[in-house]
Amino acid sequence: MSKVTVIGAGNVGATCANVLVTNQVADEVVLLDIKEGVSEGKAMDIMQTANILGTNTRLTGVTNDYAKTEGSDVVVITSGIPRKPGMTREELIGVNAGIVKSVADNVLAHSPNAVIVCVSNPMDTMTYLIHKVTGLPKNRIIGMGGALDSARFKYFLSLALGANATEVEGIVIGGHGDTTMIPLKRYAAYRGLPVSELMSAEQLDKVAADTMVGGATLTKLLGTSAWYAPGAAAAQVVAAVLHDQKKLISCSALLDGEYGESDLCIGVPCILGKGGIERIVEFDLNDEEKALFHASAEAVHKTNAALG
Ligand code: NAI
Ligand code: 2OP
Repeated sequence: MSKVTVIGAGNVGATCANVLVTNQVADEVVLLDIKEGVSEGKAMDIMQTANILGTNTRLTGVTNDYAKTEGSDVVVITSGIPRKPGMTREELIGVNAGIVKSVADNVLAHSPNAVIVCVSNPMDTMTYLIHKVTGLPKNRIIGMGGALDSARFKYFLSLALGANATEVEGIVIGGHGDTTMIPLKRYAAYRGLPVSELMSAEQLDKVAADTMVGGATLTKLLGTSAWYAPGAAAAQVVAAVLHDQKKLISCSALLDGEYGESDLCIGVPCILGKGGIERIVEFDLNDEEKALFHASAEAVHKTNAALG
């Protein structure tokens, strides 16, 4: 029996739960929120699609009742406030740090062996905070940001190429921030062919720039931050862990010398499986990419310092 808990039944949490149910990722999913009735209502609404979509996953909504999350294999933390237009992810730190800390404590009291997937922003710093407050082995805490940023990169690449998004490869590393993420243009490919052979350097630069402000663009359009792709990206990370898929996904991981950096969580290519982050893969970065990664790490360290 596999069990996943999603904390926060807002836009991202509920979407993640919906994808987990629709794709039958786990046998059981629990959706928890502090707002009375919200998770119960969203779970009921989602479960009313079960017969239409033909899924056997059971989803339950609960109001702050952590006993119901007992024995979860994976816990996704989405609780916290989202960005509003004009806000950076970093501006959310004060409120979200308090929420994420108390949620992590409650989660582990009932699921001591769970792998934790952190979504709440500023995500790299919240992931680092979870490491600090829980002391869990570093493989068991995964920050979700690179999965989303890489999906956005592939989306913009597919538009520029006029190609099917599933046939495009691309990965984004670095911090999950508008100026800190690094779409690795050199590694972007269409069916194995470097995209630099299929589009001009200017076109590729524009794809990378659109990717970096991908979240801000949606926040401006929607009045709050996006949720469909974020929820699906979190579910992708859950599936990779729960089903021991050994998929390479960019995730925020605690570094201990990898990529020349230490004592921070930042986006790097990770092999995900039953143990969580089973391996960090070190791409052979050129000097320009190394400098970008180092600058990104410096910015993440600066945000971490605000934790006090
Ligand atoms: P939302 O406002 O729709 O939902 C947040 C939910 O958390 C609310 O329902 C709220 O009641 C709940 N909540 C607050 N405190 C809680 C607590 N102590 N325990 C349980 N539930 C609690 O926000 P949305 O759009 O779902 O975003 C959630 C977070 O995810 C934000 O911090 C946002 O910035 C972040 N985000 C991260 C992304 C990433 O790639 N890492 C992408 C998109 C959003
Ligand atoms: C996003 O990238 C704001 O982190 C959120 O959509």
